[in-house]
Formats: sequence, C-alpha cells, structure tokens
Amino acid sequence: MRAGEIIDRCRTLAVLSEIPDGLLRTFLSPPMRQLHGLLREWMEAAGMRTAIDAAGNLRGLYPSSAETPRRLLIGSHVDTVPYAGAFDGVLGVLLAIALVDALGGRRLPFSIEVVAFSDEEGIRFGAPFLGSRALAGALDAALLGRRDADGISVEEAIRAFGLDPAALPEARLSRGVFAYIEFHIEQGPVLESLGLPLGVVTSIAGLSRLSVTFRGQANHAGTTPMHLRRDALAAAARWISLVDRYARATPRLAATVGALDVRPGAANIIPGEVRASLDVRHPDDAVRQRSTAVLLDDARRIAARCGVAAEWQSHVDLAATACDPWLVAALGRAVSAAGYPVHRMPSGAGHDAMILAWRIPAAMLFLRSPGGISHHPDETVHAADVEAALAAGAALLADLEQRQA
Ligand code: GLV
Ligand code: MN
Ligand code: MN
Repeated sequence: MRAGEIIDRCRTLAVLSEIPDGLLRTFLSPPMRQLHGLLREWMEAAGMRTAIDAAGNLRGLYPSSAETPRRLLIGSHVDTVPYAGAFDGVLGVLLAIALVDALGGRRLPFSIEVVAFSDEEGIRFGAPFLGSRALAGALDAALLGRRDADGISVEEAIRAFGLDPAALPEARLSRGVFAYIEFHIEQGPVLESLGLPLGVVTSIAGLSRLSVTFRGQANHAGTTPMHLRRDALAAAARWISLVDRYARATPRLAATVGALDVRPGAANIIPGEVRASLDVRHPDDAVRQRSTAVLLDDARRIAARCGVAAEWQSHVDLAATACDPWLVAALGRAVSAAGYPVHRMPSGAGHDAMILAWRIPAAMLFLRSPGGISHHPDETVHAADVEAALAAGAALLADLEQRQA
C-alpha cells in the first residue's frame, strides 16, 4: 500500500463526524461505529482477526509464525478534538495496518496487534486516554462514573454501544506483549524547521488539566454601576492574560485556557459564573506542578480583588514519560536503515504511549507536520513522509524479527 492510499483512507475517515461543518468524533459516538466498520474491513483484508474490546478499542490481531505469547502492539487513537484535522491519531492506525498489509501474509516470530484506541483526546468525558487506560488496567470506577454533557456516564456509554463493562478486565494487555510503537504526526513545527521527515520521540511532556470556576453575581448590565459589580468574566479575563504572561516567562512551559463556559451568557447580563479550562505542560513534572499551583493561587487572588470566588477541579495530572531507551535505539536504527536522518526529539503533545509505558516498553515515531499545524482542519502530512514512515516501520519489523527469531 502506498502513501497516497493511506492518506486517502485518512480523508475518508475524516468524513465520519458528529457535526456537519467539521470533524468531531468522540468516544463511542455513532461515527465511531461507522469508522469501526471501515477499519475492520481494512484490517481483515490485511490478514488480521478483529474484535472490539469493552472500552471500544478496535483490535486487529495478525498471528505469529509459531505459537508464542510474544506480541508487538502498534496503535494510536481514532477519536478527535472538535474541528479536527484528518491525521491526528488515525494516521498511526492506518500506517500500522499498511505495515501488516505489506507483510503479504508472511508471519513473524511474534504476533502483531494493531489497536485503534477509542479515546485519547478526552473530549466527551473531560478525561483523556480512556481507551489506552483499559489496556493498562487503569479504567477505574471513578472514570467509569464520569458523565458527559448529556449526563451519560462512561459505563452507560459502553453499554449503549453494545459492549459489556464487566468484560473490561479482558481488554488488558496480554502476557507476552513486549513493546508498544505509535506512529503520529508531530503536531508542531520542529521537524519542518529542520527539513526532516521523521523524528524519534525520546520523551513526552507531563500534563495537567483542570477546570477553574469563577463565581460572581449575575445582574442587570445597564443598572449595576461598574464599582458595584461582581463580574465573573472580568475576573477570568484578567487571570487568563496572566496565565499567558506567566507561561511566556517560564522556559518550556505551555499553559492554555482553551474553553470558557459563561453563564447565563447574554449581552445584557453581567456574567455570574465562568468555567475555564486550564491545560499546563512541561517536560519537568516539578516545574509543571509548581506552575499550576502558582496559576491557581493567582486565580484566587485576582478573583478576590474582583469580589468573585474561584475554585478548581483537577481532571488530569500525568507525569512526563520517557520512551523506552532500547526501542528508541531500535527506531533510530530503523530510520537510518530506511535511508533517513535520525533526529531525536521530545513530544509536547500527550499520546497513548504515555499510558502504555506504565506497563510495557513504549516508543513513538513522529512524521513532519506541514506548517506545524494540528488540532485544526488544515492539519496535513506529506505523502513522501508517509512513505518514509512506512519504510522505517518495515525496517523496525525486520530488526525485531532478526532479534527475536
Ligand atoms: C492530545 O492531543 C493532547 O492534548 O496532547
Ligand atoms: Mn490530538
Ligand atoms: Mn493524537
């Protein structure tokens, strides 16, 4: 399978959306079921047996040459952010299927399991990595009880999709899985700035996600003098500009307020309540945690000055993750054997590999992101870079085959 076909498949899947004017596909939504149908066909045509586990991950198994528990996992996610591009996550799954397809039925001394994770972005339930957490045995009762905007819990969503939460233990990694590899677009500008198609990921930045609520007093926008108001949005706005300034002044810190919910939300009502998201990332967990504490302290201080209360809730606190050194070296050899320069780099984005790394050696290969654009409909990939990733992936399988035979 050539790069053009892989890209066409990504674009075909990008039509499967919950919204009419862009791509949004969340955990176990109707378009995810449609996506499963197509991916299953493609996996089966490449010689895999397919099944959907209790967390809604689609799993394709390509058997080994002889009976052995040894298994290589290759995967990425198939959920998206709102108004997403066509490649974040999905490209990694289609590259994995193409690599199996390229074996042409030839068996390796280990089986290959391709996994299409049901949730990495965390959009529907405000908690990311539901899919990979199931493989790590970390989809716990608190997560299963989380509710979406319609009041449906994760557990109810699993049942509504026709799956059985009681079967979640069977979704766990099987004994003998020796590595997890993820192909993914870089989602940033570094490889492009260096003129390189591929990057071997060495580590993934840690990540905190919270919601910060400012509570003031909704009131009439015409009659309430400025000095007698308790405007929750005015307080939130002051804090948001401080978040931006603080992150700019702290080396390698990324801090983002990406979503605001303003209530009651009318032009002639002073905002009484604002819920703001806060996303904080840094390669060093101590810096991330200290920065998050400072920003929350600032929220309380600014709120108090505006006669408003501030409180928060933490949704994610995920440590920075080192990729497995042996796999990083193997990926480096594979990139080199395929004829491309080896560039090692950290990941600023979060990935399923962070969760798999709790249990098994995990590593990632990045493909250049043209324009450095991602989480946007303009997200794309060069066909030549997809060819490069295919060649590196084939070289990796050959390397692993040689070492395991
Ligand atoms: C995943 O896309 C992330 O938020 O890093
Ligand atoms: Mn993403
Ligand atoms: Mn992704």
